[in-house]
Amino acid sequence: MRSFIAGLPKAELHLHIEGTFEPELMFAIAKRNGIDLPYDSVGALKAAYDFSDLRDFLNLYYQGMSVLRQEQDFTDLTWAYLERARADNVRHAEIFFDPQGHTQRGVSFETALDGIWHALERGERELGLSSKLIMCFLRDLPESDAERTLDRALAHKNRIAGVGLDSAEVGHPPSKFERVFARARGEGFLCVAHAGEEGPADYVREALDLLRVARIDHGNRALDDEGLIARLVRDRVPLTVCPLSNLRLRVVDEAKAHPLKTMLDKGLVATVNSDDPAYFGGYVNDNYIAMQEALGLTRDEIATLARNSFEAAFLSRTEKDAHLARLDGAVAAL
Ligand code: HPA
Ligand code: ZN
Repeated sequence: MRSFIAGLPKAELHLHIEGTFEPELMFAIAKRNGIDLPYDSVGALKAAYDFSDLRDFLNLYYQGMSVLRQEQDFTDLTWAYLERARADNVRHAEIFFDPQGHTQRGVSFETALDGIWHALERGERELGLSSKLIMCFLRDLPESDAERTLDRALAHKNRIAGVGLDSAEVGHPPSKFERVFARARGEGFLCVAHAGEEGPADYVREALDLLRVARIDHGNRALDDEGLIARLVRDRVPLTVCPLSNLRLRVVDEAKAHPLKTMLDKGLVATVNSDDPAYFGGYVNDNYIAMQEALGLTRDEIATLARNSFEAAFLSRTEKDAHLARLDGAVAAL
């Protein structure tokens, strides 16, 4: 099964580039920028990755990204992810970045964007890994801050495909961002939002009704609401599920209790993704493997998850069909 999973071409649709910051690279970039991290060693930093919830994780995530200062830092971070993802047979990635996490601390929007973009272009050229960039608004900041971030993005529409919503969920419902999402949509940005990770099923409804998102990031709590499940199935709204993230942030108690198989059984378009792999203990194939082993997923179920990843991607029908044909070929050969 491991070689079957490894051999399948797949798309990754829920990945925060700042969450791919491996401790070794973090220490190297901190040193290059003359920054002292509050940890003596890579081991001491890794030992701190024992989270009680999303907020607890976010504190370390924002601390980690604070060593990113120069354009080259963003390029190195992104390149490391792309090489690692390609090793997992990721052929297409839709990548989140958090501009406010950088502009808040005096790093310009363009420093982050240009740095990430150089690596994405190289990834397409040298690794055959296509990508799209989605900028997330930090939901624990005011909507006015998101509006300013959208203003900055307007000059870069050729490189930013969509907008998303992340950071601390509870108490920051999608409704808080209805106006900025309406404007982003009007400007042609695709829309997604984290919803139903720690927040209730109602936040998933709001993301659909008020933000008009094309996908739900996480969406676990949608399972609390039968009417909502029926709607997500009927409208084929994809969920970008992140199993190891759910375990490490205690959204799910143990791997055997993960709802991924239930989602498939109910006919939801579930996909498997790594979220913040440097912090949560594994890249995308590790997420597939953890779920296969804990839930006893069959080859057909694994192939369905890979198929869903391309169906749910922001690709044209022609591009999806080309990926799906290669996937079918791999399924037959493995
Ligand atoms: N949830 C919300 N915000 C985030 C996450 C997440 O898992 N990772 C990075 N920002
Ligand atoms: Zn996420």
